[in-house]
Amino acid sequence: MTDDRLVSATRGDEDAQYEVGLRPRTLDEYIGQDRVRENLEVSVTAARQRGEALDHVLLYGPPGLGKTTLAYVIANELGVAVRATAGPVLEKPGDLAAMLTNLQPREVLFIDEIHRMSPVIEEILYPAMEDYELDIVIGQGPSARSVKVPVQPFTLVGATTRTSLLTSPLRARFGIVHRLDFYGARDIEEIVRRSARIMSVAIDPPAAREIARRSRGTPRVANRLLRRVRDFAQVRADGAITEPVALDALQLLDVDALGFDDIDRRLLRTIIDKFGGGPVGLGTIAAALSEEKDAIEDIYEPFLMQIGFLDRTPRGRVATPRAYEYFGLTAPGKDSKLW
Ligand code: ADE
Repeated sequence: MTDDRLVSATRGDEDAQYEVGLRPRTLDEYIGQDRVRENLEVSVTAARQRGEALDHVLLYGPPGLGKTTLAYVIANELGVAVRATAGPVLEKPGDLAAMLTNLQPREVLFIDEIHRMSPVIEEILYPAMEDYELDIVIGQGPSARSVKVPVQPFTLVGATTRTSLLTSPLRARFGIVHRLDFYGARDIEEIVRRSARIMSVAIDPPAAREIARRSRGTPRVANRLLRRVRDFAQVRADGAITEPVALDALQLLDVDALGFDDIDRRLLRTIIDKFGGGPVGLGTIAAALSEEKDAIEDIYEPFLMQIGFLDRTPRGRVATPRAYEYFGLTAPGKDSKLW
């Protein structure tokens, strides 16, 4: 593991730890993602009324948008417990088999990064999802035989950054599939105000708006910025988050008006400066930045595309005129071969 990944893993843990208290527990408390919320409300209510396990749910979208939160909200609304694990953690078939056989009726099994499960583990999941049973092979060679072990009706909630990363047999076994999108500024602002209330910190509306604006449409980022701004307000001011306090804190954090961090800026500058604005392949960009291809594709690109700074074309990534403008540069003319 590289140092960078170690650092980001630690940062992720810190977020997870602190975010627990801020996470909504019910669909009513959940802000934004209105369509997803409304659809889940119907599915969950129906399953609860029938006393059945909810159909398996696949949630996909960029990190930090609330896939894990929703898994817990779903379980809470169903009145059952969550057993949580992650694709890369499930190493041996026995790991998953043990989790499945320990499930109580209608419980939620949450598998984060479900696209990173190994094929053997996936094979175990199919009959469990479809028929609530496990096919366990006992013995080896000619005397090997398969026994079926029942599991309780359960709901698998799987989370992934992109459904295209899933094998099609796995994808086909989810009855409920929802994509989480970046949140609108108003929703993020409401999340910031709600989190501030939970943290018992006073925040002025313009300050909440500013933090929201720089949060890349991502609640996890908003809550992280809010915690840092709260620290700043406590140490450098009287504890209240006013607009000037928020602006000073965000400047010290080096979070610019669009919420870009160093990697966003380097990514765009690399395409512009080294590759004439593109098109350039993902692998080439990753190598130039010494970052992982997956991290660029799953974490950085979706937001840059959403705000119209980056295009994915069949020939590679292209920086848009808006990206040039942001850096105070002039985009190549429309008649140039790039546009
Ligand atoms: N905290 C993090 N995500 C949230 C959401 N979608 N609604 C309310 N609070 C949140």
